[in-house]
Amino acid sequence: MIVDIVDIKDRFHEIENLFPNVFTYDSISRDLENNPFSHYLVYLLDNKIIGFINYYFIYDRVEIANFNILEQYQNNHYGSKLLEEVIMRSIDKKNITLEVRCDNNKAIKIYQKYGFKKKAIRKNYYHGIDGILMEKEMNNMKKDIYVLGIESSCDETSFSIVKNGVEEIATVISSQIDIHADYGGVVPEIASRAHVKNVTFVLEECLKKAKMKMDDIDYIAVTNGPGLIGSLLVGLETAKTLAWLYNKPLIPVHHIAGHIYANNLVKRLQFPLLCLVISGGHTELVLMEADYRFKVLGSTLDDAVGECYDKVGKVLKLPYPAGPVIDKMASVGDPTYDLPIPLNDNSFNFSFSGLKSAVINLVHNEEQRNKSINKENLAASFQKVVIESLSKKTVHAMVEYQVKNFIMAGGVSANSGIRKRMQEICEERGIDYTFPELKYCTDNAAMIAAAGYYAHLDGKEADYTLNASSSLELK
Ligand code: KG4
Ligand code: ZN
Repeated sequence: MIVDIVDIKDRFHEIENLFPNVFTYDSISRDLENNPFSHYLVYLLDNKIIGFINYYFIYDRVEIANFNILEQYQNNHYGSKLLEEVIMRSIDKKNITLEVRCDNNKAIKIYQKYGFKKKAIRKNYYHGIDGILMEKEMNNMKKDIYVLGIESSCDETSFSIVKNGVEEIATVISSQIDIHADYGGVVPEIASRAHVKNVTFVLEECLKKAKMKMDDIDYIAVTNGPGLIGSLLVGLETAKTLAWLYNKPLIPVHHIAGHIYANNLVKRLQFPLLCLVISGGHTELVLMEADYRFKVLGSTLDDAVGECYDKVGKVLKLPYPAGPVIDKMASVGDPTYDLPIPLNDNSFNFSFSGLKSAVINLVHNEEQRNKSINKENLAASFQKVVIESLSKKTVHAMVEYQVKNFIMAGGVSANSGIRKRMQEICEERGIDYTFPELKYCTDNAAMIAAAGYYAHLDGKEADYTLNASSSLELK
């Protein structure tokens, strides 16, 4: 399914047949001829018009005059996408207004989600039924939007300022990796305490680096899940306090949405898009047909791939986190050990606990027989199987959903072997690909600020009752 939002250009005669009660061919053509400030956007599904929106620019204001989605296509967010498009095109305007029937609660709710507020009643506006005039204030004609991102879901305390969702201004990351390395993994209680200690310093440092003040910030975006609950709460409470103190909108961001938008800082995402999310806590394939529309196609049934790297590292007595070490060893070893390809089926799901057990058993068996393990070769054999499993499912999804763009997200997307294979796959198929910058594969706030910009356009503003959730779903 190919989705597009386009200016109507020479297809407006189709609207007359599709929406006979709303427009005639003559009325639209006359409008377009005589009024250069009138615009019609249509929503195309497989090149078929299923809805439209008509809006006017009047000096520094925008008026939405008509908005319609064919009945059988309603309740699918298509209308929201058209509305978002108009909002994006009005970013330098003062406000957007529209009228809605006072009994159309569903539409009123959607407009409110996008920041429209009730302004006035228009008596009998709709042949006996009152209309409500709603208005969305835009950012005082300010063109650039600066989002402050806050990330503290695991063992990194990070703040970042990103402009318009694409341009990084300044990022500061304070990693606790050295504190946790002695324990072979992140200790939640120690992590939350370290966040509390770091949070104000990291914020100050970030503002200093950006040469900005809190007053220059437009929105505050914060990871509200998933992650370690104590760690999440430190970032969330900081965000709420700042939002209240400086009167800024508070935007919750899903941690994985953040990892995905790390790619947007390299190159603007293109849709339909497939993302392979591979981190210490997640392994999933996500399909996106537009900004901030996530569809999880499949995920791991047990361990995440990063977790598997770290556990294999533990049995090989490698330092934590073991992912980068195994990656390096694999590049010099040969894949001489025979390991099973996990969940070799036609689903989009993954499984890594069997592979982990196979490596652990192999090491123990060799130890019992007093045989030494060639760690480089075992690393190469393990990584080869990981790549085979990930690439098989990825190619399947690429073909099934005819994607234009492929991206990766999460700590394991730094892996050189996985990058090389995915690059080959995309080049063979003519699919545009982007990988996050190495420094932004692991947790950081730049990705949260980038995602926060699109979350805000999607109406994701929260109030101060916002809570953190350790197992938040991506939707
Ligand atoms: O995304 P992330 O910082 O944490 C979660 O949000 O889960 O990812 C951390 C994970 C760790 O398991 C680490 O071993 C792995 O990413 N990792 C790697 C590489 N660099 C980091 N795994 C394989 N190859 C790498 N080069
Ligand atoms: Zn992460």
